[in-house]
Amino acid sequence: MGTAKSDVQLKSFSSIFRLDGKVALVTGGSRGIGLHVASGFLQAGCIKVYITARKAKGCDEAVAALNSLPNKLPHARAISVPADSSSVVGIERLVVEIGKTTDHVDILFANAGATWGERFETHPEVAFSKLMDINVKGVFYTVQKLEPLLKRSATVDNPSRVIVNASIAGLGVGELGEHATYSYAASKAAVIHLTKNMAVELAPRGILCNVVAPGFYPTRMASGLIELSGGVGTLAASTPNRRVGAPEDIAALVTFLAAPASKHLNGIVIVTDGGAMLGRSKL
Ligand SMILES: NC(=O)c1ccc[n+]([C@@H]2O[C@H](COP(=O)([O-])OP(=O)(O)OC[C@H]3O[C@@H](n4cnc5c(N)ncnc54)[C@H](OP(=O)(O)O)[C@@H]3O)[C@@H](O)[C@H]2O)c1
Repeated sequence: MGTAKSDVQLKSFSSIFRLDGKVALVTGGSRGIGLHVASGFLQAGCIKVYITARKAKGCDEAVAALNSLPNKLPHARAISVPADSSSVVGIERLVVEIGKTTDHVDILFANAGATWGERFETHPEVAFSKLMDINVKGVFYTVQKLEPLLKRSATVDNPSRVIVNASIAGLGVGELGEHATYSYAASKAAVIHLTKNMAVELAPRGILCNVVAPGFYPTRMASGLIELSGGVGTLAASTPNRRVGAPEDIAALVTFLAAPASKHLNGIVIVTDGGAMLGRSKL
């Protein structure tokens, strides 16, 4: 009696969470969430990670720290490209600079952003102008200008990725009262919808677009609201999983959205807040 041959074919999954050889651009990558994600990209195998923000010093310091990561690939490097992501001129310059050292980009983490807190009665026009420019317009034109590089080596089975950093303020209600975030919440809702539109247009070109919506992560931008809310301890205590976001939480999530593991996700929003937004709902 011969041994029956199995029909079961198991595929190797050993690289589904890896980014080996990938080229990434992180806007707002000089500190905070962007820097943690850039670190995650390099530790997952990216070969080039471009870091952009307005201040050259911040970009250079971030790149120096990233380039001394012990567990990146030996030839991998972070590259500083300072630019203003809120203006089309700045974005065009950024893309030209990047094009001098790569012929393609696999991953864009569109993360550069700003916030504004002021009550309803005095919430100023400049807040809307500034935040719509960086949080919405800047994301659209970064994707538009980078699209030729994003599609250059993309295929159906190896798609490029755009991952947009929004906020739970774009899904639920943001801060109200003295430090209300009307313009911020509206800009984050807008960029979520913008990304869904781009997801449908760009996926047939091999570019998938998804959104992450963080709750509180202690960074320079969040520090004001965190203090007003009573500090990290108070915020953690009022969050269902009893913590605020940590560097590895956002690095892991965005790396997943850039990796082969997520290549059938397009136009979705993933909330990373420990259940904070749900915990807030009261009838
Ligand atoms: N931290 C949170 O709790 C939280 C929660 C939800 C969503 N988010 C989102 O996460 C993203 C990153 O915020 P973060 O908390 O990490 O804040 P952060 O530490 O203040 O970092 C903001 C980054 O964006 C850059 N940036 C600001 N304006 C820019 C411009 N016009 N052009 C290019 N770069 C610009 C900053 O560098 P320069 O100043 O040198 O330009 C910096 O690198 C934002 O989109 C924010 O809305 C954060």
